[in-house]
Order: sequence, then structure tokens, then C-alpha cells
Amino acid sequence: MKILILGVNGFIGNALVRRILHTTDWDVYGMDLYSNKLDHALGHPRFRFLEGDIAINKEWIEYHIKKCDVALPLVAIATPMAYVKKPLTVFELDFEENLRVVRQCVQYGTRIIFPSTSEVYGMCADPEFSEDDSTLVLGPIHKQRWIYSCSKQLLDRVIWAYGQEGKLQFSMIRPFNWIGPKLDDLDAAKEGSSRVVTQFILNLLQREPIKLVDGGFQKRCFTYVEDGIDALMAIIQNPGGIADGQIFNIGNPDNEASVKELAYLLRDLFVQHPDHRHDGVYSEIVETRHEDYYGKGYQDIVSRKPSIEKARQLLGWEPKTDLGTSLKITLDAFLEEAKGSAV
Ligand code: UGA
Repeated sequence: MKILILGVNGFIGNALVRRILHTTDWDVYGMDLYSNKLDHALGHPRFRFLEGDIAINKEWIEYHIKKCDVALPLVAIATPMAYVKKPLTVFELDFEENLRVVRQCVQYGTRIIFPSTSEVYGMCADPEFSEDDSTLVLGPIHKQRWIYSCSKQLLDRVIWAYGQEGKLQFSMIRPFNWIGPKLDDLDAAKEGSSRVVTQFILNLLQREPIKLVDGGFQKRCFTYVEDGIDALMAIIQNPGGIADGQIFNIGNPDNEASVKELAYLLRDLFVQHPDHRHDGVYSEIVETRHEDYYGKGYQDIVSRKPSIEKARQLLGWEPKTDLGTSLKITLDAFLEEAKGSAV
């Protein structure tokens, strides 16, 4: 099988290519702006990589969509600070660039596995979000946070419509707060543009206060990336076409925690870490308002829990890694990385 991964140096992309090269005989063609997370893959005989921008290297992309059996367009800005501060950049990259890829998959008959997002459910009040039944609830236009969710939702709808017309073989995944090594760059976290786990780890490393936005009562279900990759591999393998035309929530409902609980768990792990148990001084945990942290364009999701019944039944998938283990692996990897950098 030939697989095209756009955004192969990203958090999901690099973990996926590692798994593919270790456990299959598939060929992978990857593109990304950077290659700093790909040490394990560069030079492998079944991995071809082009360092470049998907907005520029259009011919390379079209050629590879034509050549490959499956395309995974993983390129996207996926941090809430960017949704609020650079909404048009989010739209241009996450929507416009990916729409072109979707259309080329239609043109060349290439199967697509599209990364939708847990964000599409928005402020849905369901205790567990269901792929095929939950209502998608977004805030008003001046709450620019929702541009990411809205961009992804429209692409989901476009892909779905092509599928209904018999023009596109597709599956979609909705990752729920996947965490693990290489989640975000620590440098991005310095600018506040990373996801919460990376942000808190940077705060701990720099002994700055950990900030709980609006008290940190909002909840997420944190999912270990390798569990997520198990599901993604089953979808790529697609025995008997089981994943065709389906949207899958890929999350760990048992790993639910409030942001406040997350902060205390991470700080405890940091304090116990052999390199830091004698630091003496550790980050305080403080509260802040979302207007001060993100700006007025922000609105939050109070609770976000997936129903994973469909992934269980169709893919035989079950997340295995508990929250404490997932956080410890993630923290340890970041601390190791930070040793070799200026953080
Ligand atoms: C994320 C991002 O949109 C995407 O990465 C992704 O599509 C999706 O969720 C997902 O992974 O499922 P969110 O969970 O809101 O959205 O993003 P985080 O930046 O990880 O924030 C989680 C919570 O922590 C938010 O309530 C935020 O306000 C809070 N937070 C964040 C703090 O309290 N303090 C901080 O310093 C940073």
C-alpha cells in the first residue's frame, strides 16, 4: 500500500509514520515544513520525504495523490490561541488548502482519511458526543475561536457529500485531546500557542505560574497518542471496507479530568521526577480569566467526552493507557527533549 501523509512531521503524523514503518510493508510519502520530529523515519527505504509548504508544492501533492492508495491530509493549525489571534490563517490552511486535497482525491479516486476534530461538537450538551447523533453547537461569529471547528465541520460535510454521491471513499477521525511525546513544540508554548498539556509542562520547566483559565473546571478526556494510532491503523487497514463512509470518535472516556485536576497531576509528576525532585521551588497554580488569557474572541467547552461505541464495534478498538501513565510518558519525553534545548 502507498500512503501519502501531508503534515508528516506533526504530532499525529510522526507517530503514525513510525508505526507504519515498524509494523507494515507500506510505502509512505510525506511532506512537511519541518523534519525535526522525523529522525526515526528519515533515511528509511520505505519513507520518502519532501520538506515544503503544501500551499506551494502543489504539483508534488497532486502527483502523489494520484500515485497513492490513501491520503491523510494532517496539515492544520490546531491550537486555540491561533483560532482567536489568526483566524484567517486558520481558515486558509485548515480549510482552503485541505479542500484542494479533498477535491484531488475525488479526481484521482484516492481514498482519504480526514482528521476531523472533537472541536466540531463545540458546546454540545450531550454527556457523551456521538458521531452520528449529536448536534454541533458553535457560538456567535465574534467568538473567533469557532473558526477552526467551523472550517473542519464544513470539510466534514463536503467529504460526506462527495461520499454520498459515490465519488469519494473516505473515513474521518475525531481525535479527543490526544497527548504524548512531541505534542507541540516547547517554543510554540513560549508564545502561548500550544495545547494545555504542553503549556503546563513549559510552565513547570520555567517555574512560571500554571494558569487555570476560568478556574479550570472545564473537562477533557485525554487520550494517549499510541492508543489513537491503534485506531488509525485499523482504519487505514480497513478490512472488508469496515471504515468506509464512517466518522469515528477516537478518545478515552475513562481519562476524563478537569483542567485543574490536570494541573495538579502534572505538577505532582514533575515534583517526583528524578531530575526535579530537589528543585525546591515549583510553579504555583493560579486562576485567570479567558479574556485575559486568550482575548475576547474565546469561548470554552465545559465538557467534552466521546462515545466510542462505533470504534469499539467496527474496529474492535479500545484505548488502553490510563491518564497517569499517559501524562507521565508525555512529561518524561518533554523533559528529555528540554535537556537538549535552551528551555
Ligand atoms: C483542542 C484544540 O482545539 C485541538 O488541538 C483539538 O482539535 C482538540 O482540542 C482536541 O485535541 O481534541 P482544547 O481542548 O480546548 O482544544 O485546547 P487546549 O489548548 O488543550 O485547552 C484545554 C483547556 O485548557 C481549555 O479549557 C483551556 O482554556 C485550558 N487552558 C489552556 C488553561 O486553563 N490554561 C492554559 O494555560 C492553557
